Amino acid sequence: MKILVTGGAGFIGSNFIRHLLGTRSGVEILNFDKLTYAGNPENLADQEGCPRYQFVRGDICDRAAIEKIFASNFDAVVHFAAETHVDRSIEDASPFLQSNIFGTHCLLEAARRHPRIRFVHISTDEVYGSAPAGVSFAEESPLDPRSPYAASKASAEHLVAAYANTYGVSTVILRCTNNFGPFQFPEKLIPLVIANAGEDKPIPVYGDGLQERDWLFVEDFCRAIALALENAKQGSFYNVSAGAPQPNLEIIRTILRQLGKSESLIEYVLDRPGHDRRYALQSSKIRRELGWTPEVTFDEGIRKTIAWYQANREWLAHARSGEYRNYYDRHYTNRSALLGK
Ligand code: NAD
Ligand code: DAU
Repeated sequence: MKILVTGGAGFIGSNFIRHLLGTRSGVEILNFDKLTYAGNPENLADQEGCPRYQFVRGDICDRAAIEKIFASNFDAVVHFAAETHVDRSIEDASPFLQSNIFGTHCLLEAARRHPRIRFVHISTDEVYGSAPAGVSFAEESPLDPRSPYAASKASAEHLVAAYANTYGVSTVILRCTNNFGPFQFPEKLIPLVIANAGEDKPIPVYGDGLQERDWLFVEDFCRAIALALENAKQGSFYNVSAGAPQPNLEIIRTILRQLGKSESLIEYVLDRPGHDRRYALQSSKIRRELGWTPEVTFDEGIRKTIAWYQANREWLAHARSGEYRNYYDRHYTNRSALLGK
């Protein structure tokens, strides 16, 4: 199976590529990534010698580059590439509309000209908006995106569903809750807390810190994506979640406790505008139809995650200092097959 992965230099994409190469011996992967600030080629440095893995730098909004890439006759596209940080979308929504909506449209245009290709679209629980206490959204719940990021992801999903309906593109959409684990960029809550606490720096808590997120260990999401890629019905949607939402403050306290750090590092700051209070999803459909179930508890996942960041101090230092942005030029510029640079 030949697979095109978009955004594979990011957090979930790089974990997915490592997962697939490690568990499916017949798979070949081309990772197509623009290397925005969130794309870190150090995430897959260990795969560079693998004959079943290739990296091409490029932008999913670049039609010519996408057409050229699709000429390689892939069996599937797994589409992660996106602007992903809610706070940045509040500062400036434009790159979110460009990459998340227009970029998805470019890929769909190419996909409809290659009818046998499977299109796995990675979406988010944020498309449903904030869940009232006691409520967990199911796949048929109405979409109510409430941040520019969430709105761009909901728009992208609508395009994917429209291309399935209109042109028969073989799509599957996965809506997942917050992921955590190795290689997550330290602007997101969990790696930020680990990194700041490690340096005895303040931990910024937005508002009262009682917002809830339903954290899933990234390896569990990668297994769900692989199952959907191989077994999901054309045009299907699946929620993916651990089903155990927790308040942010509880997550932060757990991490501080495990690091042996004082809660006095916690610093309450101004809340995120329009901050969604609670995310919660039912994931019974993927459990029933694809036999998926999360294998890593939050406690086990957070222990593994903290241990990973402690064992990979150089990765974290490069991510914090911006040094990772030099990696591509040092390792790739002399290689051929660069597109969209
Ligand atoms: P990330 O920010 O870590 O990585 C995004 C990657 O996409 C980067 O490598 C970046 O360079 C690349 N990219 C961005 N714009 C691009 C473009 N125009 N062309 C090519 N590449 C581009 O993201 P992540 O946290 O790994 O999320 C991956 C996907 O999963 C996203 O679609 C996100 O919406 C979705 N998602 C994330 C989470 C989460 O908790 N992180 C949860 C649910 C869904
Ligand atoms: O729910 C899935 C989504 O999870 C993904 O679609 C997004 O791409 C991903 O960024 C993530 O969005 P969140 O906004 O939930 O994640 P973030 O790590 O930014 O924040 C988690 C919670 O912690 C949220 O309630 C805001 C809060 N927070 C975050 C940061 C960075 C703080 O209190 N302080 C912080 O410094």
